[in-house]
Amino acid sequence: MTLVLFGAATLPFATKLVWTCVTRLTNQWHRLPRARAESTRSVDYAGESFRTLKRIEQITTYDEPAMVAAWRRASASRTSYLADATARMLDLARIGPGHRVLVVGAGIGEEALEAAIRVGANGEVVATDVSAAMIAEAARSVGQTRVANVRCLVMDAQHLKFRPSTFDAVISRNTLMFIPDLMRALAEMNRVLKWKGRIAATVWASARRNPRLSDPLEAARALGVNVAPTATFRFALRLGRPLLLATALRGAGFSDVVVERLPVIARYATVNAAVQEAMDHKGTLELMELLSGDSERRMSRSLARRWQKYAGHSGVNLPGEQLVAAGAKAA
Ligand SMILES: C[S@@+](CC[C@H](N)C(=O)[O-])C[C@H]1O[C@@H](n2cnc3c(N)ncnc32)[C@H](O)[C@@H]1O
Repeated sequence: MTLVLFGAATLPFATKLVWTCVTRLTNQWHRLPRARAESTRSVDYAGESFRTLKRIEQITTYDEPAMVAAWRRASASRTSYLADATARMLDLARIGPGHRVLVVGAGIGEEALEAAIRVGANGEVVATDVSAAMIAEAARSVGQTRVANVRCLVMDAQHLKFRPSTFDAVISRNTLMFIPDLMRALAEMNRVLKWKGRIAATVWASARRNPRLSDPLEAARALGVNVAPTATFRFALRLGRPLLLATALRGAGFSDVVVERLPVIARYATVNAAVQEAMDHKGTLELMELLSGDSERRMSRSLARRWQKYAGHSGVNLPGEQLVAAGAKAA
């Protein structure tokens, strides 16, 4: 009798528990990244197998003229906060006078122009990007300078149209995470490098360390958006683990692989200026499109609230972290 009574009393609780578990599992299932259903490339190194490098969809965020214009508007700010990471990438690539350098995912040509200074008049820089709009802007930037040794070409990193052993160095700033089949692209970069040629690349570290990219995602979630696995900022943060990056480079045949962490501080005069730059980015715009009514005000207020803590007497210092990875083409 006691048992029956106890059972009856616990029945609503047990039902609720089962219901909670089922709902949580279903929610989890819905939240599973779509990339999970896509093919996975496994990278093996030192007996460890990494099944985390998923083949992703080709991003089109950077194909639109509006994004190119926004990228141009943010150029001074980006050049400043990426200065140390870019210099370190060029150092680790050991770019010197007379070298031939390939830039993968060159955007509007910022790092290509810096590499051109290092290779000098006897060297050559080939800036490539899958986005015709970005590369057209890169060609325009190069044309405005007196630099004569930078060529700009539309090209997918997964299919590099160069003969083997063409370049002394390959560099790639904040692009690897957007390439659908990263292992294929890394193998291509290895192929076009000369023996002992160098690769150096930067990617964003983890979401936790990069609020400038992760807070728009968090803000959107807090406002009720079910953020797609293909969101630009999710891709942007997908290679943020040093071991994963190192393993990918080794898996593609590079030796002497190093991955360094580098702090990045994006400085703005006011919180409003930081928010405005974020609101100008296609990555934020695509999140706002999923919000109902008054999305711009809701998103910018949420970002302003989150970034207020970085404001001080000297303005706003948004912290971040880049990973700078490098290696050499083995024999
Ligand atoms: C975040 S932007 C970085 C641009 C530039 N490197 C910079 O730091 O300013 C990423 C770039 O990667 C390019 N990209 C994406 N997928 C690519 C692919 N499969 N092959 C070559 N470039 C690609 C995009 O078009 C975009 O210009």
